[in-house]
Amino acid sequence: MSLEKFDKEIFELTNKELERQCEGLEMIASENFTLPEVMEVMGSVLTNKYAEGYPSKRYYGGCECVDEIENLAIQRCKKLFNCSFANVQPHSGSQANQGVYSALLNPGDKILGMDLSHGGHLTHGAKVSSSGKIYQSFFYGVELDGRINYEKVREIAHIVKPKLIVCGASAYARIIDFAKFREIANEVGAYLFADIAHIAGLVVAGEHPSPFPHAHVVSSTTHKTLRGPRGGIIMCNDEEIAKKINSAIFPGIQGGPLMHVIAAKAVGFKFNLSEEWKIYAKQVISNAKILAQTLIARNYKLVSDGTDNHLVLMSFLDRAFSGKDADLALGHAGITANKNTVPGEIRSPFVTSGLRLGTPALTARGFKEKELESIANYIADILDDINNTKLQAEIREKLKTLASNFIIYPKAMF
Ligand SMILES: Cc1ncc(COP(=O)(O)O)c(C=O)c1O
Repeated sequence: MSLEKFDKEIFELTNKELERQCEGLEMIASENFTLPEVMEVMGSVLTNKYAEGYPSKRYYGGCECVDEIENLAIQRCKKLFNCSFANVQPHSGSQANQGVYSALLNPGDKILGMDLSHGGHLTHGAKVSSSGKIYQSFFYGVELDGRINYEKVREIAHIVKPKLIVCGASAYARIIDFAKFREIANEVGAYLFADIAHIAGLVVAGEHPSPFPHAHVVSSTTHKTLRGPRGGIIMCNDEEIAKKINSAIFPGIQGGPLMHVIAAKAVGFKFNLSEEWKIYAKQVISNAKILAQTLIARNYKLVSDGTDNHLVLMSFLDRAFSGKDADLALGHAGITANKNTVPGEIRSPFVTSGLRLGTPALTARGFKEKELESIANYIADILDDINNTKLQAEIREKLKTLASNFIIYPKAMF
């Protein structure tokens, strides 16, 4: 029986979401469009299989095929990041990070990460996250110019003396200097942990410096710039750390691995290893640069005055409207983005004075500089006259037409 006949409600909602993704412009920096092949294997019989443990060391029978699949995912992941160990089982980026902490730390140990309100992630020690509850967390941030001041990080690290320093961010538009972070970690005897969830797709294409050989451990999601299925991965080059990570993930914090997702990660990695991937990653950055240049030309202020990667952070500190207002206005025009705090923030985290925009998903659709320039102009038009709902509706129709020329998934896919 088809899903349509068996569960009409879910079928229709899924199709409505397909329509939303196809008709609108997806500019959330952490989102992307994965390959149909990735979705095919995620919807396969692999979802039926229990395979607690690791290849050749399982607690269940019948793991011959899934062992080969997981080994392929591991091999491809190691090749991609040029490292000697990979664990492909974390169900998400957050669980990958939780695994890293529980492998290397004891409860109460000190960690130093990037402040959530400065662009860090919840799992980098925020007090509401287990990373800030189990461990004593301390923070560095960005300067008013939107950049990390490595001398300040050094000063804080010398005062705090953390056992682990986390680098990597969710809303940072500039290159991260992993070598500098390692220098600081060495000075205070800390592990350096790089969470490259946002930039991994650029790193593997050589478009952002690699965290290896500087970081002791690296984690990532597989669904952001990597364009694979939702999930997490952990990599390193140290046998002792590798053993600890494997036990931290299973049996430490997870049970049965999601074999359909691990197979989908392998398919995604195959794409990431192709020549086509390098072209995609380059285009993601070119598109972000033209987006930034056009917004600046239209008198909008960007945190750090531009971008080196896949995202742009607009600042509305000099405007009467907030990040929330901008998010809503763009939403009415069919552009999905997210409000974000900015350096020197004056509004609450629910309102904010910033907006984060990303180019990975639009680039996956085939958008290039010409389209990004016109989208940036539409964004500026909307924000220049933020209460003009008629204009928002007009632009929505124009963007719908533009989007229909860049088909990402066929209609009636489900
Ligand atoms: C830097 C960073 N690390 C980790 C995560 C967590 O990933 P997930 O949502 O898969 O738990 C995110 C997600 O936004 C992130 O931006």
